[in-house]
Amino acid sequence: LRKDWQEEAIDPALLEADPVEEFAKWYERAQTSTDMLPNAMSLATATADGRPSVRVVLLKGFGAEGFEFYTNYDSPKAHEIEANPRVALAFHWKPLFRQVRIEGVAERVEDETSRAYWETRPRGSRIAAWASAQSEVVGDYATLERRVAELEQEYPGESIPLPPFWGGYRVKPDRFEFWLSRESRLHDRFRYDANGDGTWRIARLQP
Ligand SMILES: Cc1cc2nc3c(=O)[nH]c(=O)nc-3n(C[C@H](O)[C@H](O)[C@H](O)COP(=O)(O)O)c2cc1C
Repeated sequence: LRKDWQEEAIDPALLEADPVEEFAKWYERAQTSTDMLPNAMSLATATADGRPSVRVVLLKGFGAEGFEFYTNYDSPKAHEIEANPRVALAFHWKPLFRQVRIEGVAERVEDETSRAYWETRPRGSRIAAWASAQSEVVGDYATLERRVAELEQEYPGESIPLPPFWGGYRVKPDRFEFWLSRESRLHDRFRYDANGDGTWRIARLQP
């Protein structure tokens, strides 16, 4: 059997009081690990009447204000967020045997923030964002390629406007969980719950 736990443990005395700072430490480790996509996170949303769905998106920034990702504002996930902004995120860094879970409320980032990130995206990705009505049915790949070719004609230069249907969400967290795999499944788990005044209470959870 492959070893799927760490020799190390989470020392509760060393946990940051602020979970975003704790996350920053874990994320730093993930980025220097062999994990190929340390910024990949599962994003769970649910319809207003409680039907859940989950998919992977990429973390593009985080801080005291929250955790950002970018997507199509007409996509199913976006419609779910508009109807029910409560979402959950999960990172699984396999080489580190670690998981971080985050729960919170998603809101759109400012247009200027989306535009600033948009400008950093490769030209091909910007064209593709314009070309795709995300998650709608398309008959064949050639249809997408035709649309891309048309857009290449329409926007021959470097300057491609930010699509009105595309941008970021920021998840403002009110709960975190830091999980580390340990021997015999007797894992370390620490949950942070927001007190609502900027402070957090920390509790160890059973494995
Ligand atoms: C590794 C990985 C990264 C992804 N990153 C994003 C992303 O940042 N934004 C996005 O909209 N979709 C991303 N996707 C695609 C989504 O998982 C999903 O297929 C798409 O957003 C449609 O979701 P929806 O129909 O629930 O709205 C990614 C998929 C994978 C596997």
